[in-house]
Amino acid sequence: MILIVDFGSQTAHLIGRRLRQLGVTNEYVDPENALAAIKEKNPRGIIFSGGPASVYQEGAPTIPKKIFTLGIPILGICYGWQLMAQLLGGDVKNTRKEYGPETLKLTKTNALFSLPNGEFTVIMSHGDTVVALPKGFTVMGSTRSVPYAAVADETRKLFGVQFHPEADHTQYGLEILENFACDICGEKLAPLELSPDSIIQSIKETVGDKKVICAVSGGVDSTVAAFLIGKAIGKHLIPVYVESGLMRPETDSRVKEIFTKLIHADLVLIDARKRFMEALAGITDPEVKRKTIGKLYVDIFQEQAKKHKDATFLGQGTIYSDVIESKGSKHASHIKSHHNVGGLPKDMHLKLIEPVRNFYKDEVRQLGRLTGLPEDILMQHPFPGPGYAIRIRGEVTNERLEQVKIADKIVVEEMKAAGLYDRVFQCFAIMTGAMSTAVKGDERAFAEVVAIRAYESKDVMTSQWANIPYEILQKMSSRIVNEVPNVSRVVYDITTKPPATMEWE
Ligand code: XMP
Repeated sequence: MILIVDFGSQTAHLIGRRLRQLGVTNEYVDPENALAAIKEKNPRGIIFSGGPASVYQEGAPTIPKKIFTLGIPILGICYGWQLMAQLLGGDVKNTRKEYGPETLKLTKTNALFSLPNGEFTVIMSHGDTVVALPKGFTVMGSTRSVPYAAVADETRKLFGVQFHPEADHTQYGLEILENFACDICGEKLAPLELSPDSIIQSIKETVGDKKVICAVSGGVDSTVAAFLIGKAIGKHLIPVYVESGLMRPETDSRVKEIFTKLIHADLVLIDARKRFMEALAGITDPEVKRKTIGKLYVDIFQEQAKKHKDATFLGQGTIYSDVIESKGSKHASHIKSHHNVGGLPKDMHLKLIEPVRNFYKDEVRQLGRLTGLPEDILMQHPFPGPGYAIRIRGEVTNERLEQVKIADKIVVEEMKAAGLYDRVFQCFAIMTGAMSTAVKGDERAFAEVVAIRAYESKDVMTSQWANIPYEILQKMSSRIVNEVPNVSRVVYDITTKPPATMEWE
């Protein structure tokens, strides 16, 4: 097995996910417990993940130097490489920060970098970088501002990369991890199949004869979660759809159809539109907004639970990217409180059951496929639980909610008409909160700027904005300024993740 030392990077969990995809067993450990875990598990290789800290920061996570003397191959990624360099006598500095795609030029090849191309795209996300190599290391590749972006000490089998091979948008990232696991550490490839059966069995064991109030939204994650729970406990599943007024207009009918035709469970539908608007009044801070929404959802689910004897669990379609952005591991940073994770109130009485919590979006889709859910449900674009509220920068008012819904509909319609909708991961409109001047019918208008965001992604941890033809953008822009009241301007968001998250709030 390969041991992954988790220094808290947003993409740390992707390393394990990629290895799992290759069929290589792996486990995570916090740096503080790494030596004990090595003794116990006897790993064939070790990967140091990236992390949000700087090696010079007080209290930054570190690791005993002894780890480099055990003869086990180590691959350090980003912070993991910086820490390795610093501990072995190299030097790390806060030079030029890089966030997003960069070109790596390979100057040498070895077992780790036996790649077909001398130049390829890598995802960077760092403040510090190594500026002097420790003794014994040779440089294998560089980017325009990072000289030691790929390095190796062949004798000690120590390797370092400043970029993130685990990120989907790093070309040959999977090959690099495969080379490390197989050619360097001697692991065998045996790709694993996702198994809904073991998940269903574990739900049965956890829930026993109790009931599960299951939060559903008609989206991919909550539908797959409810489907798995339904398969495990049958009529003890109580799906609850809360109409918050913040969801896509077609959600109501979609949810009803899913639960009558596919899951055969009695859906509880709650109209809470007024409660949500009242709770959101005056709130402009994105985190307060998310937490307010998360709390209100849970209050409503708890009210429902009281109406059903033995309803002690709350089922949710939380997936791993929700968890990691809401601070999923000891050294990870908090990015945003996904309403179903960091947005949950501390005094919640219901116990959580989250069957797809450890999976990424594409794996959740695959699990859904294996359990028999149709493609049109599985391949629909994700929609965030807090809905349009987090696509309205600033206060959510009825007027702005109406504006974002019309703008969003236009974006989706034009993407579908151009045959592009299925080629992107998500596309939507944002009320940016920025104001600008326009001339409408010879009169001055000072009104809001709408942004369009569309991007490609597999697992939402990294994304590339979509290359939409100018004519389509032009159509969207003309329609938005004409059909959405009080809009002055339309802009297209051309920022990758990292650094920008998909949603603006
Ligand atoms: P970000 O903005 O975090 O989005 O890059 C990643 C993916 O997650 C969705 N998203 C959410 N989904 N509750 C959800 O159920 C949330 O609070 C939430 N915030 C973001 C987002 O639409 C994208 O697919």
